[in-house]
Amino acid sequence: ANGIRIFDPAYLNTAAISSKITFIDGDKGFLMHRGYPIEQLAEKSDFLETAYLLIYGDLPAKQQYDLWKYEVMHHTFLADDLTKLIGSMRYDSHPMSVFISAFAAMGAFAPEANPALQGRNLYINNKDIMNKNIIRILGKAATVAAFSMRVRMNRPFISPRADLGYAENMLYMMDSMSEGENYKPDARLARALEILFILHADHEMNCSTSTMTHVGSSLVDPYSAVAASAAALYGPLHGGANEAVIRMIEKIGSVENVPKFLADVKEKKELLFGFGHRVYKNTDPRSKIIKEVSETVFEACGREPLIEVAIALKDAALADPWFVEKKLYPNVDYWSGLIYKAMGFPLDFYPILFAVPRVAGWLAHWKQALDTSGAKIWRPRQVYVGEKLRDYIPMEQRA
Ligand code: SDX
Repeated sequence: ANGIRIFDPAYLNTAAISSKITFIDGDKGFLMHRGYPIEQLAEKSDFLETAYLLIYGDLPAKQQYDLWKYEVMHHTFLADDLTKLIGSMRYDSHPMSVFISAFAAMGAFAPEANPALQGRNLYINNKDIMNKNIIRILGKAATVAAFSMRVRMNRPFISPRADLGYAENMLYMMDSMSEGENYKPDARLARALEILFILHADHEMNCSTSTMTHVGSSLVDPYSAVAASAAALYGPLHGGANEAVIRMIEKIGSVENVPKFLADVKEKKELLFGFGHRVYKNTDPRSKIIKEVSETVFEACGREPLIEVAIALKDAALADPWFVEKKLYPNVDYWSGLIYKAMGFPLDFYPILFAVPRVAGWLAHWKQALDTSGAKIWRPRQVYVGEKLRDYIPMEQRA
């Protein structure tokens, strides 16, 4: 009926879903996590501290932070079976398919974490088992992304290092030439990725997070729920948009082609990826911060030539009444792909760089749902608009 629309529980008149994790003011372009504005977290926090804030509700004290970081960074290894599974994937598998497969398999390798086997109340009021699996899932997400990169590069897997930062360790596992090598990623890029991870960590009840909460409400294990959420994020209307933006800008090719492309968008022949949002009817605050981060990355890696087309496209759209009337502004995905391109990631790796940090938001909402409403399954209703009551017609009497 509505063409391309992301599923939104609110459309089905389901009760508003209350949460203490994230607040968005779409008209003002405002975002905060547990009361802290995203601008302050991006400037002052790091990804693991923000993940702790999202999941446990407050900024950790030093001792809490050190223990949390120690635990997550010491749960980054993958089981041998899982490493073999990832290693068996085709070199050209889309990394999001690898990510989905890996987390589905992780559920199989963790029977002790499976309510189907251990009883439906496994996670209800059992903080130890919940926290242990939160730490495992967060720790392993970056390793899955790094290992899928190594499959693409046809290079051996590099074991994670617990002495590095979260994003730094992922870059180390991707870039290092050999295990134990004294290689350290460029600190500017490690910090840039930490900021991008903070910005992508959570965003209220978006498509993939509502998937995590929806699927998790059936009391499936959290690994399978993460696999389902990653599948939702994979779509080009959601987390796959950062990849689609670069494909779009490459297709436009030059500043001179921008007016023609925007004309095609207005005729509904094209979609302006990286623009528009179900909630933001103003510029996405994350987009502004990412644009600032891009300058740091371009200093370290060289200026990405496509940025000139991206700037011209953004300026032309913001000056065009068609886009302004529809309240279409740059969202989180508009600039991030240009950063990843400058850093040298293959194009189809951009969505996994969204998925890894978003695991923190998925886990936060999964924990919140189980801690507050226990085993309350999500079951939205539909408004029936089909045929009225009628009797069965035998085959021979049908037209
Ligand atoms: C993310 O929900 C979240 O919080 C998501 C996210 C997160 O952090 O989790 O913020 C991450 O997914 C960001 C969005 C990334 N996706 C894209 O950039 C893809 C391009 N954007 C569009 O597909 C769209 O804007 C959506 C999917 C993001 C939002 O869809 P909506 O809310 O259903 O938009 P809409 O259809 O209500 O838009 C109103 C009008 C429509 O036209 P009319 O029917 O009124 O004629 O604007 C048009 C739409 O066709 N429109 C666009 C457009 N976005 C909306 N036209 C061209 N290009 C676009 N990008």
